[in-house]
Amino acid sequence: MIKTGIIGSGAMGTGIAQVAATAGHPVLLYDNNPDALSRARQSLENVMKRLVEKGKLETESAEGILQRIEYVNNLYACKDIGLAIEAIVEDLEIKKGVFEQLEDVVSEGCILASNTSSLSIASIAAACKKPERVLGIHFFNPAPLMKLVEIIPAIQTEPEVLAQSLGLIRSWGKTAVVAKDTPGFIVNRVARPFYGEALRILEEGLADAPTIDWAMTELGGFRMGPFTLMDYIGHDVNYTVTETVFQSFFFDPRYKPAFTQKRLVEAGYLGRKSGRGFYDYHHGAPNPEPRQDKKLGSQIVWRIVVMLINEAADALYWNIASRNDIELAMTHGVNYPKGLLRWADESGIAHCVETLDRLYDEYREDRYRCSPLLRKLAREGRGFFS
Ligand code: NAI
Repeated sequence: MIKTGIIGSGAMGTGIAQVAATAGHPVLLYDNNPDALSRARQSLENVMKRLVEKGKLETESAEGILQRIEYVNNLYACKDIGLAIEAIVEDLEIKKGVFEQLEDVVSEGCILASNTSSLSIASIAAACKKPERVLGIHFFNPAPLMKLVEIIPAIQTEPEVLAQSLGLIRSWGKTAVVAKDTPGFIVNRVARPFYGEALRILEEGLADAPTIDWAMTELGGFRMGPFTLMDYIGHDVNYTVTETVFQSFFFDPRYKPAFTQKRLVEAGYLGRKSGRGFYDYHHGAPNPEPRQDKKLGSQIVWRIVVMLINEAADALYWNIASRNDIELAMTHGVNYPKGLLRWADESGIAHCVETLDRLYDEYREDRYRCSPLLRKLAREGRGFFS
């Protein structure tokens, strides 16, 4: 069992430590903030207690998991680890500094991974003397519950490092997919229209937030509506991801953030965690009811879904990931009711192209340009799986 070092004991680091320890690995959980370490210890103890109470884990197993995790505030404690997963603050310069320090401490064969959501793995690897041992291992929040992990080799990464990491993460019971080192990897790129197009529909006044949420859950089959989900994620986090993806794509209008969400962040209406976002979470606060108009609802669902399909098709077109990994990523990473490429086949590729072209004609915005791959499939009368 490879000794695993988790660097950063915040929300993600703590969750990843639980996953690794549950898979039987000895884990070192490191943070430079002692308070963060005690919070992590407390949180893991509470989680284990709850799992035992619910009958999901034997007391003995829970104790074993907790015993396998050691909390350290000195990076030198990580000298004999075989894998490091970094989950510190999302700041390139700080991450680079930690990777440099880490490389001085660990052995030659140690794999160094980052859990970054938005930074390029190539730029983190470039801080290392042996960049070929660096890659991205991107978990989703909460790490113990979310099945998907995106594995991102940088241009410097050795194939053997990728193969070993894939094997390891799969042995932890996770669904691992491989993504190219491009902004948002798979999920955070392909999912952008789920928020962006919903915000656009709201801003145009075509429907309000409860109606769009109702349509997406009741008619579209999504677990949460976009506005409920944004409120849950937190607008600061969700807006930053959108803005980062937009900037990283050299301001491609397809990823343009929405003023509505920016203003929420500026106002401190961050969602559930601040008591108010699109909805008011204060006890007894009135929230408007959705307009349960099936015709309008179906139009809303299709407009958002076709934009998601277009994004998934484009990710395939640009070889960001394989067809199956794109499907797995969206069904396991964000629990979409169906893979988007399969959804395209079922709806008809020609229908997708017609809708996108109609939106493009209406708005004359590059945001609605149809992926060349969808157009090609429509021309050839083929689908993604046929
Ligand atoms: P967090 O803010 O909860 O935790 C970050 C931890 O890193 C803190 O405990 C902090 O004390 C520690 N830290 C900061 N600088 C450090 C340093 N120089 N040395 C050691 N420890 C240091 O952040 P969170 O949400 O856990 O995110 C961590 C990473 O995971 C980020 O790169 C983020 O983009 C990524 N991520 C976050 C997700 C999320 O939903 N929160 C999902 C997937 C990835």
